[in-house]
Amino acid sequence: MVPERSTGEDLDAADCVEPIYVDATYGRGGHARALLKRLPAAARLIAIDRDVAAVAAGQDHAEEDSRLTICHGRFSQLDPVLDDLGIAHVTGVMMDLGVSSPQLDAAERGFSFRGDGPLDMRMDQTQGETAAQWLNTAAEDRIVHVLKTLGEERYARRIARAIKAARPLTSTLELAEIVSRAQPRRPQRSKQGRTKHAATRAFQAVRMHVNDELGELECALQTLFDRLRPGGRLAIITFHSLEDRTVKLSFRRLASGTPLPRRLPVRESERQQPGKVIGRPIRASAAEVAGNPRARSATLRVLERLA
Ligand SMILES: C[S@@+](CC[C@H](N)C(=O)[O-])C[C@H]1O[C@@H](n2cnc3c(N)ncnc32)[C@H](O)[C@@H]1O
Repeated sequence: MVPERSTGEDLDAADCVEPIYVDATYGRGGHARALLKRLPAAARLIAIDRDVAAVAAGQDHAEEDSRLTICHGRFSQLDPVLDDLGIAHVTGVMMDLGVSSPQLDAAERGFSFRGDGPLDMRMDQTQGETAAQWLNTAAEDRIVHVLKTLGEERYARRIARAIKAARPLTSTLELAEIVSRAQPRRPQRSKQGRTKHAATRAFQAVRMHVNDELGELECALQTLFDRLRPGGRLAIITFHSLEDRTVKLSFRRLASGTPLPRRLPVRESERQQPGKVIGRPIRASAAEVAGNPRARSATLRVLERLA
């Protein structure tokens, strides 16, 4: 998934401005390492993650490479992080949304129905309500709403009723079993025709709710755009149709700026376009999906700041 070359790099070279990039979702640093390989010695990469385990991995990485600074926090709170580091504008920002493979694979984090673990699902385990706390106290209608909107779950009402009847829930396998039993025994298929575990949609919905993933994204987009230098780029990989829609619509809005009054004369300076959407959305190739099946639902979109 490689977007066309950024003019940000050209500008940095031309103006001798120190290139500063942000990785807003460090994870285990796969993207950070790939980016650092291409950056000059004078560049900086500011990485952030809300997961303490990701930050610990980033601290080891920062000891190997002094260009990297890793911070614990949410990307919606990037402003104070950059202010504390004395950084006003950056050359580029990348975001790779959703849950990381280490989070999914560690049963004790509670993200997966493939192994038993506590029903936690918080990306940041230092704060907030766990999935169990939310499911054990939320009103049935609220659970229905979350399952429908974030999971597109057809059997939301039945599942919510079953959850309510089984309270208190404590473990991931318990939730998976309740969700599966509340649905007709037909194999579920994804849009690509693959069989899906009956609890996939419900787990995704609960995880996105517990971590307020859409709220975080909506809050962050304007700030991230405002922090770009002219020519700087914001590249976002989404895995969920609602996230992708949010990014697509926000990119359009950020690119076109404040809407002008209809049928009124405007000065040329008022017609300025603050950003430009770069190319078409990029999806993982068949070869990439073969090597990394979790990339199958990924979409990369890129926005450039013009002025
Ligand atoms: C898909 S993984 C990123 C993987 C990473 N690109 C790599 O190469 O290893 C998403 C990461 O973003 C983090 N994350 C999700 N939402 C976040 C938020 N609002 N603020 C900061 N980090 C977040 C998660 O904790 C997770 O580690």
